[in-house]
Amino acid sequence: MRHRRGVAQSPPCAIPAGLRFAGQSATVRARSGQENMLLMPPAVELVQVSVAFGAGAARYVAVEGVDLTFAPGEFVAIVGPTGCGKSTLLNVVAGLLKPAAGVARVQGADVAGISRACGYLFQQDALMPWKTARDNVAVALEPQGVPQGEAQARAQSWLKRVGLAAFGERYPHQLSGGQRKRVALAQMLIRDPQILLMDEPFGPLDARTRALMGDLLLSLWSADRKAVLFVTHDLEEAISLADRVIVMSAGPRAKIVADRPIDLPRPREANEIRLDPKFHAIQRAIWEDLRAEVMKAYEAQSGGRS
Ligand SMILES: Nc1ncnc2c1ncn2[C@@H]1O[C@H](COP(=O)(O)OP(=O)(O)OP(=O)(O)O)[C@@H](O)[C@H]1O
Ligand SMILES: [Mg+2]
Repeated sequence: MRHRRGVAQSPPCAIPAGLRFAGQSATVRARSGQENMLLMPPAVELVQVSVAFGAGAARYVAVEGVDLTFAPGEFVAIVGPTGCGKSTLLNVVAGLLKPAAGVARVQGADVAGISRACGYLFQQDALMPWKTARDNVAVALEPQGVPQGEAQARAQSWLKRVGLAAFGERYPHQLSGGQRKRVALAQMLIRDPQILLMDEPFGPLDARTRALMGDLLLSLWSADRKAVLFVTHDLEEAISLADRVIVMSAGPRAKIVADRPIDLPRPREANEIRLDPKFHAIQRAIWEDLRAEVMKAYEAQSGGRS
């Protein structure tokens, strides 16, 4: 079983016809983007990464010996039982957590501190309640010193891309859960990070809104491919979005136990792709990988079998 994937194996950067960028044709951009990707180091490389919390008798080794490499533009989903260490791995890549052993690299450089190349979408709402939707998006440009007028204009353009052009003046409490997630998505993407870390970003939403958010994410992603590391509890969501699904074992000392390519055509639409017979075969195979780990985690967290 392979847990590592070289840059040369990155997926083809096919961009749906009709998408245009700043006066450039999608074809031209796709070709040059693909060539560039082949010259680039992996987006993320984890080499024998272990993470431990606490010390002495209280020391808890959450993940151990994790190897994971993915290419620029690749969409990787991570599934695994609750508490296995999915967020922990994202935090290592983001530079928020230092591994006890092993090396984490982003775009070929060892991670030391917060990775500027990464955008992070947390599970919880991270919008500032006292700022409007547009200001919440614009604020992400503050560290770069972008002048206010330009930041506002770029924020408005991002709100339009996530379907919220008319909602810029609303405050977070005046938006639905799905709309707040769209604002958070715009807030992450406006900085143009090359690697997107998404930790159960659509978790609290109902199934229909989740599917719509997945479609929105895929349309933004296929227009300007970033590397994505997407954590989810929802296996169907993982399969419908990703190029690869990584399965983690139950902790402690969680590992990667499966790395499955998702050989489904793109562009995809969440509700359509789930009807594909191949989808069900993939789902069955990954559930086989996952089921035993979910049961182990459940038993461990409920104090073992009685
Ligand atoms: N700061 C911390 N101190 C001590 N233990 C921690 C800390 N952060 C995480 N852990 C433990 O490490 C393990 C992995 O946690 P993590 O949050 O990465 O799990 P997860 O896979 O994201 O779970 P979930 O699916 O429920 O979000 C858990 O057992 C958790 O209790
Ligand atoms: Mg988590």
